[in-house]
Amino acid sequence: MTKILVADPDPRSQSDLRTLLQKRGYEFDAVVDVAQAHAPLAEGDVDLVLCDLALPGGGGMKLLQEVQQSHPETAVVLLSAFGSVQDAVAAMRQGAADFLGKPFAPDQVLVAVDRALEKAALQRENHALKSALDDRLRLDNVVGSDPRMQAIFKTVKAVANSRTTVLVTGESGTGKTLLARALHALSTRKGGPFIEVNCGALPESLLESELFGHQKGSFTGAIRDKIGKFEAAAGGTIFLDEIGTSSPAFQVKLLRVLQDRVIERVGDTKTIPVDVRVVLATNKDLELAVKNGEFREDLYYRIHVVSIEMPPLRARQSDIASLAEHFLRRFAQEHGRPTLRFSPAAVQALCQAPWPGNVRQLENVVERAVVLSSTDMLDLADLPTLARAATTTTEPQPLALPDGPPLPLKDALVAPEKQIIEHALRHCGGNRERAAKVLGINRSTLFHKLRKFGIE
Ligand SMILES: Nc1ncnc2c1ncn2[C@@H]1O[C@H](COP(=O)(O)OP(=O)(O)OP(=O)(O)O)[C@@H](O)[C@H]1O
Ligand SMILES: [Mg+2]
Repeated sequence: MTKILVADPDPRSQSDLRTLLQKRGYEFDAVVDVAQAHAPLAEGDVDLVLCDLALPGGGGMKLLQEVQQSHPETAVVLLSAFGSVQDAVAAMRQGAADFLGKPFAPDQVLVAVDRALEKAALQRENHALKSALDDRLRLDNVVGSDPRMQAIFKTVKAVANSRTTVLVTGESGTGKTLLARALHALSTRKGGPFIEVNCGALPESLLESELFGHQKGSFTGAIRDKIGKFEAAAGGTIFLDEIGTSSPAFQVKLLRVLQDRVIERVGDTKTIPVDVRVVLATNKDLELAVKNGEFREDLYYRIHVVSIEMPPLRARQSDIASLAEHFLRRFAQEHGRPTLRFSPAAVQALCQAPWPGNVRQLENVVERAVVLSSTDMLDLADLPTLARAATTTTEPQPLALPDGPPLPLKDALVAPEKQIIEHALRHCGGNRERAAKVLGINRSTLFHKLRKFGIE
C-alpha cells in the first residue's frame, strides 16, 4: 500500500490531510518535526513526504535534503502558508516534486500527490532498468555485451561462490587474467588473497618450491623454511597461468592437490590441507596437448570441470567500440585529458581491424593515441597501425601464385575464394549475414559456397 508521511506541526492541516488521503486509500502517518520523521523514514516504506516548509527542528528544506540523501526514491512535496515564489523555486531546485501554498484545495493536493507518486515510480523503474543493464553489460570491470561474453558472465556468476576449479582458455590478450580476477572479486573469497603464478615462466625445480614451499635445507639455497603460494592463498584464490606448458612431473603434483586438497612442502613429508579455489589459464589447445601426450589426460579432466573459452576479439566485433570507449575514458582520465573522444572514422577503423593481439592490442593502441594526440579528437592519423591495416583491407592484395603449371581458371580460383570467404567470416565474427554483405553476395550464394567448400 502506498504510504504517505505528513510532516506538519499544524494539527488542523494534519487532520485535513489525513481525511483526504485515507479516503483516497493511502496509508497515512504524521510527525511534527524533522527528528520525528527519521523513524518512519528509516522503515523504508514511505513513498511520499508532504512536508511543511516551516517544520520545527531545521525546516522543510532540511528534511527534503535528508530524504534525498538517504531515501532518494521517496518523493517530497513542500507545503507553506507563507511561501514565496523564491521558496518554491528553491524547493524545486533541491529536488522537491512540487510546492503547494496553504490553505490548499483538496483537488490541488490530490493532483500534486498523484503526480509526485507517479514520478517517483518512474524514477524507481528507471533505476531498476539501469542497474539491470549495468549488470548485463558488466562483470566487475570486464566489458562485453556480445552474447558469448554474456554467457561467460553468467557462468562466472553461477560458479563464483563455489570452490569449483575453473579453467580459462583463449588466445593471448583475450582477458583470461582479468576474468580470473573478476571471478575472485565476485566470490565469497574476495576478502582473501588472489595469488597469481605464471607456471610457464619458472623452471620446474623452482616452480615446485614456489607453489608448495620448502623445508630448510631441502636443496641448495633453501636456507630457511618457506611457505608456498598454495598456503599463501589460503581462504582465497590461486591463479595458475600458462598451465599448458608445465612439466609432466609438475602435472602429477598438481593433480594431487586438486584431488586431495593437500600439499607437501619440498623436503617434507607432512601433508598440509589447503583451502583454496584454483583457477587455471592457458592459451594452448589442451585437448590437442593431451592427444600429443604433452598434457596428462587425468589432469585435463580434473581441471575441465568448468571451462570458459574467451573468444578472440575479432569474433566479437560488436564489443570493439565499447572496449575502445572504456579504454579511452580510462587513459584520458589518467593523462588528464577528459575531453578526448574518437572521430567516427577512427571508431570505424577500430571496429574493422583484425586485432591479432586481441583486447591487449586494442588497449595499447588506444593508450598510444591518447598519449600522442595533440587535439581533442582522436582520428585515423592517431591510429597509424590501423590506418595502414584499414587501407590494405580495402585494396585488393596480389595473390601468391602456386608453383607449377597454370591450372584452369575455375580450379585455380577455388583456394583463394575459400580463403576470402573464411577471412570475411572471421572478420564478421562468424556472422554469415554480415559476411555476405561484406563480400557483396547474397546469403543463399554464401550458404551454397560454404557447403561447397565444407566450411562449418
Ligand atoms: N573484456 C574486457 N574488458 C576490459 N578490459 C579487458 C577485457 N579483456 C581484456 N581486457 C584488458 O586487456 C588486457 C589483456 O587482458 P589479460 O591480461 O586478462 O589477457 P590474457 O588473456 O590473460 O592474456 P595472456 O594470455 O597474454 O596472459 C588487460 O589490460 C585487460 O585489463
Ligand atoms: Mg594472462
